[in-house]
Formats: sequence, structure tokens, C-alpha cells
Amino acid sequence: MLPGFSLYKKQKNEYNKFDTASGAYRGRKSINGEKRGITVFKIVKKRELNPTVTEMVIEAPLIAKKAKAGQFIIVRAGADSARIPLTIAHYDREAGTVAIIFQVVGGGTMELNALNEGDCVHDFVGPLGKATEIEGLKNVCVVGGGVGCAIALPVAQALKAQGTHVTGIVGFRNKDLVILEDEFRACCDELIIMSDDGSYGRQGVVTVPLEEKIKAGANFDEVIAIGPLVMMKFVVKTTKPYNIKTVVSMNPIMVDGTGMCGGCRLTVGGKTKFACVDGPDFDGFEVDFDEAMKRGTMYREAEAKDREEECNLLKKEVE
Ligand code: FES
Repeated sequence: MLPGFSLYKKQKNEYNKFDTASGAYRGRKSINGEKRGITVFKIVKKRELNPTVTEMVIEAPLIAKKAKAGQFIIVRAGADSARIPLTIAHYDREAGTVAIIFQVVGGGTMELNALNEGDCVHDFVGPLGKATEIEGLKNVCVVGGGVGCAIALPVAQALKAQGTHVTGIVGFRNKDLVILEDEFRACCDELIIMSDDGSYGRQGVVTVPLEEKIKAGANFDEVIAIGPLVMMKFVVKTTKPYNIKTVVSMNPIMVDGTGMCGGCRLTVGGKTKFACVDGPDFDGFEVDFDEAMKRGTMYREAEAKDREEECNLLKKEVE
């Protein structure tokens, strides 16, 4: 699952106010909740992974205690911010922290990115969804695309930790957008980096080395693909002729994250499924990617408008 887009409409005039009922801060410039006598989800670390992708480590001990690779959380920067579903990139049960990695793509992620270490997010709900099933796998190829690599990484790490042989194939548009290379090297027995323009690693798409490996007799038990829909669709096209089980992590629009709203519905094996409760992982051979891509474009206009409004608001704050 990648950073999603919510239909939740913000009330701009509610920014930068306290919610007197909950005592929580309602604005973009969150403050340290402890000063208000409430313990909320504090950002303990923030780092830029590339110009558009940010990692945040959030204090959330109860979520850290239960989280597993492949599950996700829903975060809101402020009380009136958009809900953003994000897969858990990392968790530390001892420190009680959960890491999220997001791409700044719309108003909600812009608001989240405006927060800094020491600030608090208004809410942080999870762990949601089902964990990636990795038990018993001996030889797996993990394919990540763009910011989807942030989700592929904990899966690769969990596989490595149980002794699975892990081949990582990760793809980016160019060298500047490469993220988490050291982390992937640490958990993959072999790592292949691809870039669209050839500015880093090999030039080309991830399916090229994937097919090469399969043809060379890699004998994967399973391929796990996480990234843009079009990438996952073509990974499935590559593996299907060889009948290699392929799991994909779906990232549809989400609203409530609990199976109530129907926003995240997908067709899998001819049946309607909800990514938030039935997934986000699904059998790639069964997913109707064309329908998912069509649904994904439905709100592009609204998302662009939301992004523009948020840019204007941020600009006003700076002035
Ligand atoms: Fe509402 Fe999944 S997000 S049903």
C-alpha cells in the first residue's frame, strides 16, 4: 500500500485551533502535546529520504507492540486533515515507535510533512489490515517500485530474519529518487537496482531482471511486488506464464480503514474485496488491475485541487 488519498474535506478555517473537547491541537503547526497534559503521537525523528519522500518515526507504543510487516496505519496531521493510510515501514517494540514513509503528493501529505520533530500528529490508528504471509517461504523475490520500496523493505527484512533467501529488485525514476539502498543491501542476498533513465544501477524496468532471474532458474517460491499499480500489473504478467505465486500490495483510496465505507473496494477473483480488511496483500493473479487503475484516477482532479489549496495556505503562512 502506498500513500493514499482521502475524500475527507478539510475545513480551512478550523486550522490552528485547539479542540476543547479532546484537548488536541487542530492545526498544521502542532505543538508538543505533553505541555497540554495529553500524551499524543509525538514525532521523534524526521528525515528526508529524497526531495519528495519523508520518513517519520512516531511514538505509538501500543501499535508498535502489535505491528507486523505489511500492516498499515491511518494518520491525520491535524483534527481536520485528510486521513492518510500508510503501511508501517518499521516498528521498534522496545522503543515503542512506528516509522512511516510517505511521498508528498497531496494536501494531506503536505500538512503531515509540515510537522517536525517534537510535534504531534493528531491521530494515528492501527495496526490495520492483514500482515504479509511469509511463513515457510525459502526463496523469495521482493520487487519494489518508487516509494513502494518503503513497504517492500520491512517485508524483505522479515523474510531475512526467518532465514529466507531474498532477492531484491527495486526500481526508481532516477538516481535522485533512490531510497533505502543501504537498508535493502543489509537484508537482501542479492539486490538489483533499476532506474528509468539509467542514472543509477541498470537502466530499465524491474520486470527485465525479474524475468532474467526466472529464466536463469532462480526457482522463487513466491514474488512479492509493491509499487505503482502498473508496475504490479506487469510483474504479474511476467510471473504468470511461469506460474510463480505473486502477491501484490494494493493501495486504493481509503476513508475509514475498517471495511465500512467501501472506498477501498477491489475486484479480486471476480469478487468484491476491501483492501483495508481483506488486504492490503492479494494474489496478483486474481486482481483486476485495470479496474483498480480506473478507480484510482477518479479523484485525480480533486486531489490536484486539494494540493493547490494546501500550497496556497502554506504560502500564506510563510508570508
Ligand atoms: Fe473504507 Fe476500506 S477504507 S472500506
